[in-house]
Amino acid sequence: MNVLSILRCPLCRSVLHRDDKTILCEAGHCFDLAKEGYVNLLPPGKGKNARTGDEKDMLRARREFLAGGYYAPVSDGIASLLHAHLPAGETVLCDSGCGEGWHTLRYTGRLAEQGGREILTVGFDASKYGAACGMKNARRDGFGCEIGIDGDLLTCFFPGNLFSLPLADHSVSAVISMFAPVAVEENLRVLRNGGILLTAASGKEHLREMRELLYTDVHYAEKEPVHPGFAKIAEETVRYTVTLPDRDTIANLFMMTPFYYKTTAEGREKLLGRDTLTVTVETELRVYREGGTV
Ligand SMILES: C[S@@+](CC[C@H](N)C(=O)[O-])C[C@H]1O[C@@H](n2cnc3c(N)ncnc32)[C@H](O)[C@@H]1O
Ligand SMILES: [Zn+2]
Repeated sequence: MNVLSILRCPLCRSVLHRDDKTILCEAGHCFDLAKEGYVNLLPPGKGKNARTGDEKDMLRARREFLAGGYYAPVSDGIASLLHAHLPAGETVLCDSGCGEGWHTLRYTGRLAEQGGREILTVGFDASKYGAACGMKNARRDGFGCEIGIDGDLLTCFFPGNLFSLPLADHSVSAVISMFAPVAVEENLRVLRNGGILLTAASGKEHLREMRELLYTDVHYAEKEPVHPGFAKIAEETVRYTVTLPDRDTIANLFMMTPFYYKTTAEGREKLLGRDTLTVTVETELRVYREGGTV
């Protein structure tokens, strides 16, 4: 497979081709290849690239925490559901709001291990930094995509807007949306006939022990979302406990959560004074098939 066959110009949706270090569309829009190997497909002015110090800290915390593997059972659950619900053969996955691509690479690798399919995975995030990290790690893992070059197992990350994906109509086998906004209509446009949408969202018990220490009134999963045009075909709760072994890991997880912005000084002190903490991780995985009632 070749990623250029499914990518489309983010400005006019025409076909793209590569000319050395530039990606061009038929109408003459051009996009430069970054040294990390990605192409910025965010329409001008739509980026979130000017980051404040706080945001940088938050991204660093997420990168370090995920690298510890504490959420690996969640991406492994995604890989199993993809394996169960997608036909073997040529498989195109789109991670919509992929962050730095940690889960993207994990479930792509896991699915590839099952054998029997060519896989092309594309990840899009509003953050340029996310795409750069994703590409770097895809290359490290040995399945980073060189744009325009064919392969049987490729992963490629792009700065892009998930509400207006730079992808051809009906080009994707599955859209994966993990803890990110779900763009229902756009997902229907890019999915192949019978394609699936797989979502991951925090469950009710998620990080309960941390919330209790913080006395926060933030709650997860109050209402199951409805996605018109899709029919739910499977769901699974991934629930386990994990022990955070030191203060840095506790602080990193805290910074990834919405509690970080909502906690009293007293709650924060109580949490950050802990040497270790055992927390429940609870994620709701849901699979929807394209073709439900609109
Ligand atoms: C909570 S993070 C989850 C990241 C990743 N899926 C994970 O689980 O590690 C949500 C992500 O959605 C991205 N996002 C939000 N709105 C977006 C948009 N309109 N287009 C692309 N990405 C978006 C954010 O930049 C952020 O990286
Ligand atoms: Zn164009």
